[in-house]
Amino acid sequence: SNTNNTVDERLLAVCEILEKHVDYYNWVGFYFKNGDKNELKLGPYVGAPTDHTIIPFGKGICGQVAVSNENFVVPDVAAQDNYIACSITVKAEIVVPLFVNGENVGQIDIDSNTPDPFTTEDERFLEFVCEEVAKILV
Ligand code: SME
Repeated sequence: SNTNNTVDERLLAVCEILEKHVDYYNWVGFYFKNGDKNELKLGPYVGAPTDHTIIPFGKGICGQVAVSNENFVVPDVAAQDNYIACSITVKAEIVVPLFVNGENVGQIDIDSNTPDPFTTEDERFLEFVCEEVAKILV
């Protein structure tokens, strides 16, 4: 049953729902701070496998969000100098931090193959998703 699902299964289900129901969400995954190391570790995701399973704080869009605690919306990945490319099909990215008890513990990361698709509506929606996900992490 659903209630017996592990946290990772539930996080994967969130990724699957988002990727399935929003046509411009093409890669959806979670990164989490990796213990007391200054790096992120890839968690559940859907989409093309990525080599970037570990991302140092400050590196790429994800690593910047790990230290800024702020959403990062990238309308055009080609215009970013601190960006880690995972797939040549990706045109845009949004990363929203995930807070548990006020602490930035990780993030949801979404790549789009559509240029400049993300609006403030996506930000508010993904903040809501992260708040709901936080409840299953405590
Ligand atoms: N593009 C991200 C790396 C993770 S992949 O999108 C899955 C970044 O620049 O941090």
